[in-house]
This record gives sequence, structure tokens and C-alpha cells, in this order.
Amino acid sequence: MEFSIKTLSPGKAKTGCLVLGVYRGARGAELTRAAQLADRAARGALREALGDVSGKTGSTLLLRRVPGLAAERILLVGLGERKEFAEAAYRDAVRGAANALKDLGAKDAAVFFAELKAGARPPAWNLRHLVLGMREAFYRFDQLKTQKKSPAPALASVTIAAAATAPLREALREAVATADGAALARTLGNLPSNICTPAYLAEEARKLARQFKLAIEVLERRDMEKLGMGALVSVTRGSRQPPKLIVLKYSGGARGRKPVAFVGKGITFDTGGISLKPSGEMDEMKFDMSGAGSVLGALRALAAMRAPVNVVGIIPACENMPGGAASKPGDIVTTLSGQTVEILNTDAEGRLILCDALTYAARFDPEAVVDIATLTGACVIALGHVATGLFANDQTLADEIREAAGDAWDRVWQMPLWEDYQEQLRSNFADMANIGGRPAGSVTAACFLSRFASKLRWAHLDIAGTAWKSGREKGSTGRPVPLLVRFVLRHAGKK
Ligand code: BES
Ligand code: MN
Ligand code: ZN
Repeated sequence: MEFSIKTLSPGKAKTGCLVLGVYRGARGAELTRAAQLADRAARGALREALGDVSGKTGSTLLLRRVPGLAAERILLVGLGERKEFAEAAYRDAVRGAANALKDLGAKDAAVFFAELKAGARPPAWNLRHLVLGMREAFYRFDQLKTQKKSPAPALASVTIAAAATAPLREALREAVATADGAALARTLGNLPSNICTPAYLAEEARKLARQFKLAIEVLERRDMEKLGMGALVSVTRGSRQPPKLIVLKYSGGARGRKPVAFVGKGITFDTGGISLKPSGEMDEMKFDMSGAGSVLGALRALAAMRAPVNVVGIIPACENMPGGAASKPGDIVTTLSGQTVEILNTDAEGRLILCDALTYAARFDPEAVVDIATLTGACVIALGHVATGLFANDQTLADEIREAAGDAWDRVWQMPLWEDYQEQLRSNFADMANIGGRPAGSVTAACFLSRFASKLRWAHLDIAGTAWKSGREKGSTGRPVPLLVRFVLRHAGKK
């Protein structure tokens, strides 16, 4: 789907579908400025057609060939009450419009959403969320189906109407690149673990490196062993799939400027290992590489938009499998940091691969490190599927991420990383255990990681509840690619 920005008149725009917003007022519909102009050109036909339609947020009403208007179709989209119109309502309206457009025969559309006032957000915000929302609704993953594929939507081009187009060009480039990055993360997440193996992730990273001229290095098992990554290697033992530690670098910023490092959990399938998971819904553990996918997606986005930033992505990728050589409860391993860990539960594997990757990240002398991981079921219990769990050892960094998350509407909620929780990781036999018991499971997981990040400005995103959806809508969300991209751009802008 192609997007462009133009100054258009609602009455004269020749388009397959004119998309206009309508608020819900005290006495029926309340037209937006663009809808008023169209209504005037149509001699009141829009207002007439709306009648007593409720104007619920995201609801739509389709009209065809309205005399006086050049457009073939008019899609009126409910925005809810004007005084309640803010970010969430805007996003609902975009989703409603996108879903209606998906089922139409129109090949092109002109959308008059850029200048709506979503809370206090500027037109660039509307534009970014229009593009991301449309692309999200139009995303398909059907390459593995041979039958009953739903037909591809006809819509090929979307014109975003705006009075002042020049200030929006940059936002459009960012939005399209971010949508492409999120789509990449989604597809990697949706691919099953027999296709999306650690080697597959490494090959995807190599493809990105070729396409966008990124630097890449892939460490093999023997490299990990030689370096002393005892925790990472311990997780790989039960699997036949060779592990990979992928390092991908994008240097679009000033030479000598310290990079931001993203560390993404890349467990391509998590059976739990010897501490085997129950079989119900175990298929969803193919999504356990979503952190890795989001790092690849964010790097793709930043490289495609030629962002003036330096970013390094570090991805420990492997499977967590039971087997004759697999790690067993009680095993003690020595991490790259030198600290020893008693593996009391082999299903707490994410922290084991991440701790060595965090230690490794220090080599790149990063200004800040953010890890992204589907780390704990406990985080899903705490925050559900709405907010990503945020933990940080630096409040300035946490605040930057919180603000970027609000901007990207890819929301996070900060959780405590207090010293008080650390004692739950006590071990009788090693420096620490890899689990901290049932209470505050997402916090003790973060506490574990913090022990490997003491020399870093570090934040941890637990995306266990937000990286994918279950049930009928099962599939990857591409989160938190929009957040990571927005964070890096805002962070670079501040310096
Ligand atoms: N990948 C899982 C976390 C997970 C579970 C994410 C369910 C989303 C849904 C992680 O490796 C894991 O198994 N964590 C354990 C930790 C426990 C053994 C301390 C968990 O959350 O149960
Ligand atoms: Mn696990
Ligand atoms: Zn896992």
C-alpha cells in the first residue's frame, strides 16, 4: 500500500473513496471541518444520510456516488464525542476506517484525518498513526496456506489530505519505515519454529545487512564457548539447532557517538526444557523470539528511514529443548560476567541467554542498553495484554521510554526494581538462582538481569503480554517496534 500527502478539497477530490470523520453530538452527528465542506458541495446529502446514526467511535457508513462530489464513494467514520476525542479514539477511528476499506473494491482512498485534534497531538502524530493503523489492519500472513486464502484487498494507494504538506513528509517516511519494520517482526513471530530457527534469524539479519549496508557478525556455538558464555550455552544443550549470537549494527549517526544497544530474546521455541511446560497452548512458544524480531524490525525501520542514530542490535538465538544433553535443575553454570548461576528451573531460560548478551553488550560501549524479551508469564498476570512491563536502573532512561511509548501508543508501565526483591534469588550453592519463586515473578526476573547490567544504563521491556495475541486472533502484534523506533529518534533529538 502506497501513501502520499496532498492538499485536497473534499468536494473535488477524485478518489475511489473519500474518508471523513463525524463526531457524535448532543443532537445527532456533528461534522468535522472536511465533512462540512463535502456536505456543502453535496448540498446537505451527507447530513441527510447520517440521520440519527449514533456515530460510535470507529463505526462507518458508506455512501456511493453522492451528487456534487467527485469521489466514487464516501466513507463516514464515527469519532465519538468531540470532547472525548483523544489518542485512543483516533486509533479506533483509523481501525474502523481501515477495516471498512479492506472490504471495498476501491483502489485508492483520500483520508481527511491528519488535521483532527487527537488530544494535544500534532498532525504528524495523526499521520504516523494513520499509516501504522492502516498497515496493521491490512497485514496478512498467509504464505503457508494453499487454500481458502482471503482475497487481497483492492486498496493500493492512500492519499492523506493536509493543508500544510511539507512538515509531514518526514513523519510519512518514518511511519512507512516503522510499518515495514513492524511487519517484519510480525512475520518472524508468526513463522513456526521449524522454519524460523536461530539460523533463519541469522539469515534474515544477513539479508537486512546486505539490503541496508549494515555491519553484521554472527557468533557460533564455539565462539560462545570460547568467550565463556556458560549461561547462554547451557540453554542450547538440548537442541539440535545450532545457536547463533547475532550482532547487527546501523551507524547513521555521528562517528564516535556512542550507540544505543537493543538486546532481543531469540528463543525460537521454548518447551521449558527438562522443566517441561504443559502442552496446552505450547505452540505459542514459537513467539518466544519476539524480542529478537522486534530488534530486527526496529533496525530495519531506522536504516530504511536513514535515521541519524547509531544502534547495535544483539540477539542471542537458540531453542530451549529437553534432551539427553539438556541442562538439568540444580546445574550450575558460569556466566560471561564470571558470576555463577544455579539453574533451578530450565524454563527460566530467557534470563540465562540475556545475561550473557547483556555482558557482551558492554563491548560496544553503549550509551544505553534496552533488552526486549517475552520473559515471564507473571508479567501477563500483572499487566495483561495492554502494557509492556518496563524496568530500569536509571530513571531518566525509564522516563524517556515512557514518553516514547505514549507517543508511539505502544504503551508501557514501569515496575519496581527494588533491592528488597533481590533476596528471592538467593542460592545455597551458587552466586544466585535463576528463579525467585511465585511472588512478583516479572520483578525477580528483571532483578536477575540487573545483576548483569550494573555498569550499564539499562532498561528491560517484558513483552510477554504484548508481543502476540491468543485465541481466534492468534498472531504476532509487531510490538514494541513502534516504541523502539520512537525512543531512538526522540533520544537522538534530545542530544
Ligand atoms: N517464555 C516464557 C515466558 C512466557 C510464558 C511468556 C507464557 C508468555 C506466556 C519464559 O521463558 C518462561 O517460561 N518463564 C517462566 C519463568 C518461571 C519458570 C520462573 C514463567 O513465566 O512461567
Ligand atoms: Mn521458558
Ligand atoms: Zn521463554
